[in-house]
Amino acid sequence: MSATSLATSMVNKLQGKVALITGGASGIGEATAKLFTRYGAKVIIADFQDDRGQALCKELGSTTISYVHCDVTKESDVKNAVDFAVSKHGKLDIMFNNAGITPPLLYTSIFDSEKSHFEKVFDVNVYGAFLGAKHAARVMVPAKSGSIIFTASVATVIGLEAPPAYTCSKHAVVGLSNHMCMELGKDGIRVNCISPFLVQTPMIDGALGSAVDKNKAAEWLATAANLKGVTLKAHHIAEAAAFLGSDESKYVSGLNLVVDGGYSKVNPLITNVIKGSYT
Ligand SMILES: NC(=O)c1ccc[n+]([C@@H]2O[C@H](COP(=O)([O-])OP(=O)(O)OC[C@H]3O[C@@H](n4cnc5c(N)ncnc54)[C@H](O)[C@@H]3O)[C@@H](O)[C@H]2O)c1
Repeated sequence: MSATSLATSMVNKLQGKVALITGGASGIGEATAKLFTRYGAKVIIADFQDDRGQALCKELGSTTISYVHCDVTKESDVKNAVDFAVSKHGKLDIMFNNAGITPPLLYTSIFDSEKSHFEKVFDVNVYGAFLGAKHAARVMVPAKSGSIIFTASVATVIGLEAPPAYTCSKHAVVGLSNHMCMELGKDGIRVNCISPFLVQTPMIDGALGSAVDKNKAAEWLATAANLKGVTLKAHHIAEAAAFLGSDESKYVSGLNLVVDGGYSKVNPLITNVIKGSYT
């Protein structure tokens, strides 16, 4: 392949693909909608923030991006979003189950956690993702092709001070992904997760609450990060989704793609203790 055609194929890596992105009106989903559009995909944003979703479509001004109202906790909405993608574009190639919520970070102790936190978070993060994956599979199986992607979290591979309801929900998502990878492999469908480190989005700002200076959050995250010289942004996660949605990952299924700059490989506790003792 010549250098020019290689560059073209990278720019158009999602050319001809149809992608549905839940939670596409904000944060990681918004960055993914923008990137997928740039890579040539036809994108449907499915969210319940109608004003934001519609404004994003207008901002991108592209005829290849559209918005559909969808509360992922409602099966009829999810079914409608998938059917909308198929009726508008004739197929669905990529389903990015990304909508998610977390309880405030105040609730990181099991003793502060309420059953209602689990119910609310599981409703969106687990049942919403399940509904998205199930309805995507409904139209992908007859086509014998498709890529289903879930946004999990670095909390699936390392203990974090995250609310237990959130951690449990993301472990459930990885379990669902593993199951679907196994069940749908025979139909040519790939199923993967992305597990990001913390990236400042409205979800994180909301979880930090009003007591915390949001300007400090980016600084904290950069200090806590293992990989220096780069700050994790939503578009880095979007690039991981583009890889998993594209033919570049044609034989990748059952992966939990951890995008954390190596954070989960390092446990600084012993180092901190030693440094604390000797300095
Ligand atoms: N930001 C992080 O640090 C981080 C880290 C790991 C994983 N994640 C995961 O990334 C995903 C995206 O989060 P984000 O950080 O971009 O947050 P965000 O709040 O910016 O975006 C989440 C989107 O999901 C939508 N949403 C929420 N509930 C919904 C529902 N019932 N139906 C439809 N849409 C709904 C919201 O309207 C919003 O547009 C979530 O699954 C989150 O758990 C985020």
